[in-house]
Amino acid sequence: MKVIITDSVDEMAREAAGRIAAVIKEKPNPVLGLATGSTPIPVYNELIKLHKDEGLDFSTVITFNLDEYVGLAPDDKHSYHYFMKENFFRHININEKNTHVPDGTASDLEAECSRYENMIDDVGGIDMQLLGIGHNGHIGFNEPGSSLASLTRVKNLSEDTIEANKQYFKDLGWMPNKAITMGIGSIMKAEKVLLIAQGKNKADAIASALEGPVLSMVPASVLQQHRFATYVITREAALKLKLSYYDDTE
Ligand code: GLP
Repeated sequence: MKVIITDSVDEMAREAAGRIAAVIKEKPNPVLGLATGSTPIPVYNELIKLHKDEGLDFSTVITFNLDEYVGLAPDDKHSYHYFMKENFFRHININEKNTHVPDGTASDLEAECSRYENMIDDVGGIDMQLLGIGHNGHIGFNEPGSSLASLTRVKNLSEDTIEANKQYFKDLGWMPNKAITMGIGSIMKAEKVLLIAQGKNKADAIASALEGPVLSMVPASVLQQHRFATYVITREAALKLKLSYYDDTE
């Protein structure tokens, strides 16, 4: 596993965006797995910059987002559909038809989950999956205790996650307590995985994921079994790591 420790959030964003851009340039129809949350925003900004300044071309890029809240329509400002459009898609030359986010309003959620998983398989799988990490070690909305072999499905959000994300729902008056999420098994199918984290409030999750045992109570720890997993994290997020040689790994 590669662990890159950066001195700033800007540097984390540049590192991560550079790796994503390399995949876009090397594949004719690159398939990206994308994430939401506050951490990927600077990475998306950096990719937008590469598009505007250096002509990074998204016209053949296909994207699949990790997750969506159950009960939120795509045009709802609190949905991840909306988040992606606002923070990324509307600023680049991507074909909207090539962007995919699970439908949290589908009448048959189970069918929607298998449709989503099959769509990813049908395009040949994800070339690079971007991931954030929850304070509790979750990836996507795969909460602690998730099966390490799970595929796309509906998950109940943990109290931790509701606590962390309720700030985004203040004006709505309610917050969904379920989400559709790609599973841990779906994430593990990606060719490459790129996990980003910043801030000292992620330090415990990062230490358990990287240096603890692989266990379902820390979903990100499963990446220890992925062949091409890279962590790009700030020095603050790396604060609780015990091994000291990470700086030299790149
Ligand atoms: C959410 C998302 C995750 C994300 C995590 C961390 O719950 N489902 O994909 O990684 O929160 O978010 P942040 O980057 O805002 O800390």
